[in-house]
Amino acid sequence: MQRVDISHVAEHVGEEVELRGWVYNKRSSGSLIFLIVRDGTGFIQAVAAKGEIPDEDFEACDGLTQESSLVVRGTIKADKRAPGGYEVAVTGVRPLHIAEEYPISLKKHGTDFLMDWRHLWLRTPRQAAILRIRHEIIGAIRDFLDEQEFILVDAPILTPSACEGTTTLFSTDYFDSTAYLSQSGQLYMEAAAMALGKVYCFGPTFRAEKSKTRRHLTEFWMVEPEMAWVDLDGNLKLQEDMVSYVIQRVLEERKSELATVERDTGRLRNIKPPFPRISYDEAVEILNKNGVEFEWGNDFGGGDETVLAEQFDSPVFVHRYPTAIKAFYMKPDPQRPEVCLSADLLAPEGYGEIIGGGQRIDDPELLRLRIREHDLPEEAYAWYMDLRKFGSVPHSGFGLGIERAVAWICGLDHIRETIPFPRLLNRIYP
Ligand code: 4AD
Ligand code: MG
Repeated sequence: MQRVDISHVAEHVGEEVELRGWVYNKRSSGSLIFLIVRDGTGFIQAVAAKGEIPDEDFEACDGLTQESSLVVRGTIKADKRAPGGYEVAVTGVRPLHIAEEYPISLKKHGTDFLMDWRHLWLRTPRQAAILRIRHEIIGAIRDFLDEQEFILVDAPILTPSACEGTTTLFSTDYFDSTAYLSQSGQLYMEAAAMALGKVYCFGPTFRAEKSKTRRHLTEFWMVEPEMAWVDLDGNLKLQEDMVSYVIQRVLEERKSELATVERDTGRLRNIKPPFPRISYDEAVEILNKNGVEFEWGNDFGGGDETVLAEQFDSPVFVHRYPTAIKAFYMKPDPQRPEVCLSADLLAPEGYGEIIGGGQRIDDPELLRLRIREHDLPEEAYAWYMDLRKFGSVPHSGFGLGIERAVAWICGLDHIRETIPFPRLLNRIYP
């Protein structure tokens, strides 16, 4: 008998097939048992009728508990009333393992409770849908960059130095010295861009963030393109094209998952390049006009970003932040060195910064000065300085936080549901 995945039952209407999966839910009305079976690819109702299958199979069916694993045989029927449009008329059931009492019932639970059972929570339709959308987002980013002839270059995770400031570094013993978990692959991508032109890395990054917010993880995934011979404008163009492509692809390919997470897709549909661009100066004016007390020279908090983003329908770039509040490698604007050629992309609907990036310092003297001003150990950055000694060119890049993008695209309240096993200030289990 042919074994099929639930996602493919439509191709087998009228045939007797074998499904393998788990019991998501069960109810019975005397002579009928209704099972909702899930197999990872989908959910389907299977109906077992007493007298129509061997008694021993009917009894086995009766003994199934939530999340027991089983093999079901049956005939696929198209049925408009069935969720998903198909149903299985059971011809035989073989339990594989009868599950113990399952901690997650189908009624509502608090998020902290569910996070303790994250390894099981992933089995529910909503969590599975989020992971599928995450997969689509990652696939779309890879396809987009590969199509534009970027080369994937892997950055190291154990590093000798900081990229994004020393206050959020995780350190670990490295034999007789200390290593830091990478905050960003950027510095290595700058080296790779000088070797290969257009490159990107895609990997986990780590920040010892002491703040408990809806937007911060201590371990998150970032895609970081870097391009030689590209300035700030070229950098923003790539970002808006990439983000628009990703949104349109998810809307196209993941309709049912978006419905499962109850995403109102109205505002996503209109996302097309170009995105509006405002300077940091203009952003400060917008905040003040909207009654937010904000002084030039400070960094935006989550609330400020939300006010700014609310002025626009699509994501918005804020460019030319004060040089003093950005990372050491940011190139100052030659017209006005107190601001730098940086830009953040703020997502609509209160999701805040999803991309940070900019043009890098290409002048060796200035870079050396900045490393000193930022109190960074020069020896650890000697290799990075070399990139300015041997054929320095203008270059730019950015980092998109995958989980921030997933939260926005799925319309989630909190970043913790965007990653299979979130790492937060107060959570490293399971
Ligand atoms: O703005 P960030 O710190 O920029 C960099 O790391 C640059 N070196 C990237 C580059 O130019 N190659 O981080 C980039 C993005 C943010 O916009 C945000 O989406 C995400 O990474 N991010 C976080 N996501 C979840 N939790 C955190 N703690 C995050 N910190 C940054
Ligand atoms: Mg940033």
